[in-house]
Amino acid sequence: MNKITNDIVYIGVNDHEIDLFEGQYDVPNGMAYNSYMITDEKIAVLDTVDVHFKDEWLNNLSEALGGRKPDYLIIQHAEPDHSASIADFVKAYPEAQIVANAKTFGLIKSFYGEIPFGGQVTVADGDTLSLGNHELKFVFAPMVHWPEVMVTYDITDKVLFSADAFGKFGALDVDEDWACEARRYYFGIVGKFGVQVQALLKKASDLEIKTICPLHGPVLTENLPYYLGLYNTWSSYGVESEGVMIAYTTVYGNTAKAVNILADKLKAKGCPKVVVCDLAREDMAEAVEDAFRYGKLVLATTTYNGDIFPFMKNFIDHLTDHNYQNRTIGLIENGAWAPAAAKKMMSMFEKSKNITWLESGVKILASVSSENEQQLEAMADELMK
Ligand code: FEO
Repeated sequence: MNKITNDIVYIGVNDHEIDLFEGQYDVPNGMAYNSYMITDEKIAVLDTVDVHFKDEWLNNLSEALGGRKPDYLIIQHAEPDHSASIADFVKAYPEAQIVANAKTFGLIKSFYGEIPFGGQVTVADGDTLSLGNHELKFVFAPMVHWPEVMVTYDITDKVLFSADAFGKFGALDVDEDWACEARRYYFGIVGKFGVQVQALLKKASDLEIKTICPLHGPVLTENLPYYLGLYNTWSSYGVESEGVMIAYTTVYGNTAKAVNILADKLKAKGCPKVVVCDLAREDMAEAVEDAFRYGKLVLATTTYNGDIFPFMKNFIDHLTDHNYQNRTIGLIENGAWAPAAAKKMMSMFEKSKNITWLESGVKILASVSSENEQQLEAMADELMK
């Protein structure tokens, strides 16, 4: 049992059986569903876990309780990775009261029907709940990542239970870099809602926070300005790292050849980082993460069925769906008889805010010509400005 403070323990679980998280994200190092318990005159449990791990979670809870019974189950987020074990909790502890906001109670009913709660405490934004020594404050954080989400601040221990915010992919028994999988998680799952994350950060800036307890990923105890700073950059669509991402698709290797020429030129000119991504083979969430990480993006694809190659179309859809903005984009198009990919790609960003288009472009007619080499040189120069 991991102790977080004198009164707070971790009672969550690791999932190494998962195939795709939320039906789409590859999680090679599994996933953690976090849950916490605060012991005081009254005992509060924060969130449940994915239904496949309910027994393990209930065992963790029982061990942490040491013979006592929980008074409250606080539900911060109704998504099933955190709410699916509520009915089993209620069966085990029928007298406990369920604490949530009205939207959460509505969603729980939609997902699980009527659960015979021992009692229901409906909270509003800013409401507090006293456990004795510990005073909890509920702060609504709509769309981080669903509309009902709230976070909970333990005023006594200065702990922020942050729901999905500050979470990451990966189980807790695997040692891996935080930022890489937190960034992939953030842009995949919460990236569209930068405005709402900014609103939460603003509310959090009024709180003295010593520890962040998210619903996924490790408990954050040290160097909190680092994590808060990254969240501020990500949610404001700022550039995290200097460099260029080149995302491409290729059919016969000619577009890939142009991409490699450009990458070599950029490296030779001293570009701090060049990330080359074959969209047909790379994990899509990883590609999306890199597009948001760097300030400059080059898209290279073929004209295909009067449109663009499907993997590129899917990639751009992911970017625009997640409010891609504040970036410089260059275009490389390939088409043996009627190249139209550049125009098509550009039109897909019509609604994106603050996109700067490179003046230099590259139009390949099937294979890379000497004129294309010159165009790639000009593009590399413009990207280095
Ligand atoms: Fe971890 Fe939005 O659920």
